[in-house]
Amino acid sequence: MPERPPSVVLAAADRHLTAVQPMRRELFMARLERWWPDLVAGVQTVYPGEPGEQLVARLVGAAAAAFADRDPELAHLDLVRTLDPQWFQSPTMVGYAAYAERFAGDLRGVAAQVDYLRELGVTYLHLMPLLATREGDNDGGYAVTDYRTVRPDLGTMTDLRALARTLRAHGISLVLDLVLNHVAREHAWAVAARAGDERRRAYFHVFADRTEPDRFEETLPEVFPDFAPGSFTWDDELSGWVWTTFNSWQWDVNWANPEVFAEYAEVLLGLANEGVEVFRLDAIAFLWKRPGTMCQNEPEVHAITQALRALTRIACPAVVFKAEAIVAPGDLVHYLGTGAHYGKVSDLAYHNSVMVQIWSMLAAQDVRLAERALATLPATPSTTAWITYVRCHDDIGWAIDDGDAAAVGLSGFAHRAFLSDWYSGTFPGSTARGLVFQENPATGDRRISGTAASLVGLEHAREVDDAQAVAAGIDRLLLAHAVTFGWGGIPVVWSGDELAQPNDPAWADEPGHAGDNRWAHRPRLDRGSMARRHVDGTVECRVFEGLQRLARVRAALPQLHAATPVQVLATEDPGVLAVLRAHPLGPLLMLVNVTWSWRPFAGWRLRELGLVPAHDALADFQVAPADDDNLWLPPLTVRWLVGN
Ligand code: GLC
Repeated sequence: MPERPPSVVLAAADRHLTAVQPMRRELFMARLERWWPDLVAGVQTVYPGEPGEQLVARLVGAAAAAFADRDPELAHLDLVRTLDPQWFQSPTMVGYAAYAERFAGDLRGVAAQVDYLRELGVTYLHLMPLLATREGDNDGGYAVTDYRTVRPDLGTMTDLRALARTLRAHGISLVLDLVLNHVAREHAWAVAARAGDERRRAYFHVFADRTEPDRFEETLPEVFPDFAPGSFTWDDELSGWVWTTFNSWQWDVNWANPEVFAEYAEVLLGLANEGVEVFRLDAIAFLWKRPGTMCQNEPEVHAITQALRALTRIACPAVVFKAEAIVAPGDLVHYLGTGAHYGKVSDLAYHNSVMVQIWSMLAAQDVRLAERALATLPATPSTTAWITYVRCHDDIGWAIDDGDAAAVGLSGFAHRAFLSDWYSGTFPGSTARGLVFQENPATGDRRISGTAASLVGLEHAREVDDAQAVAAGIDRLLLAHAVTFGWGGIPVVWSGDELAQPNDPAWADEPGHAGDNRWAHRPRLDRGSMARRHVDGTVECRVFEGLQRLARVRAALPQLHAATPVQVLATEDPGVLAVLRAHPLGPLLMLVNVTWSWRPFAGWRLRELGLVPAHDALADFQVAPADDDNLWLPPLTVRWLVGN
């Protein structure tokens, strides 16, 4: 394809730009020219030759149509964000994630809670899937039946647009899922495929017999070994095996088909015009299937993302992408753009390793594994940011690398088993209340469900009314969050954790939920707990105010900008994690004592960093080494040390 948009492409764009002002047309054309190479390279990698050329022309037409249709407020935001492309890396960013109905009933209810979110310091709101979904079990909305309709019980597209506007007016970016890997069995494409429509059948991976599925399954891991074993489902009406990575009613779409690409591109542009600012690219790792592989992280995935990203940069540059790729660190870094894709794919990605290591450190009261695993992570592009989180709507899988474990004298297998035992509360001394999710006898894996409060032992401590244990539980909860707030990137609080809500005891009662205990940690926000956040001394107040403080202090610390490198230092004490954020304005040293006792950090190391005396920005007081030249850290404490 030519280096610049050829005339047929310009004509495809111009058809949609007749009504826009000349200056806007010029802007569109300038963006098209700027991002054209990224778009073409992405598309041509996946769809070489003529299919790719046709697709590009169609995509540019769609981008022009979306551009022409863009609300003036959003067009203004596009402008502002192009002047400040680092906006999402700012330390003022704080995320919150919730199911709309569980947080506030429906979309209007969410809009009515905007003050609550602001009170917490939130600037980024991830609402879990809210588009039309199948009846009964729908994997929490991840089985979409129509990308252009809002779930009727939550509201309408007009409500979504109004909500996005309200949030925007309060400085909160709306984040939505783009479920790219699969649709519900009840989606119109799947319905048509079953009715014999060949064009729609080609939207899916369908096999007449088991030959291909068996070949693929030799190397495919299982996502839901417990309730959805295997990756293919026989369908009588199709008279074939359809690819279903997740549940049998979630049909993987076939991204090798350029029509599928065009469909999703149009969905994406449409939702961006409703006011979605961040797209969470759900299950992005799984898009490309290749025999003999795990069918995850294939290179085409990045080319597809690059092409979609280029399109948004042309039509709606206010938008950024977040990769939901829960994969090994070496694979993960590519989602943030490496090699030819540097700066061209997702802007954000989940930092699964930090999450896992937080839980591991708290259970083991030892940081050596975390230090090793986190210090050896590949560097990420400075234009991107992590999503850091203590937990999310999914279970926690113990992504502990055997090599990392061995390097610190542990057995990976035994440590993973320990963590499952600890967090399910069966290990002696543990008061955690997690539930085992998807036990896999073949691998020994036992993933864990549970709210943060239940996992840190706070649910148990409150039940037995043990004030000391309650205090320790609160300390652990805040420590875990302080690590995510100090890491760099966007820390995302999962709904209910800001009020220390325990597991939902009635999680199994709702239709379709009984088989999936992840619902235990997706509780409805409790109005009583919400009110108690303003009652001094209550657990809710202590936790909520603790998180507020993290958000407030973080916002004022330039060192916590996501572009500031994160360096995990080796410490003398196995109970203390030290993370350095070296910044031209002076360093910030985060010290984390994960143990239940006082622990030292050597004074000479502070002096080396110019941090004697230092100011603990979190607690807002001066700290200095004691007579023995150690800075002593109280149990379960985090310090954010900066110079005076
Ligand atoms: C993502 C979601 C998870 C869902 C899966 C399939 O991993 O986080 O909840 O089950 O995708 O859509």
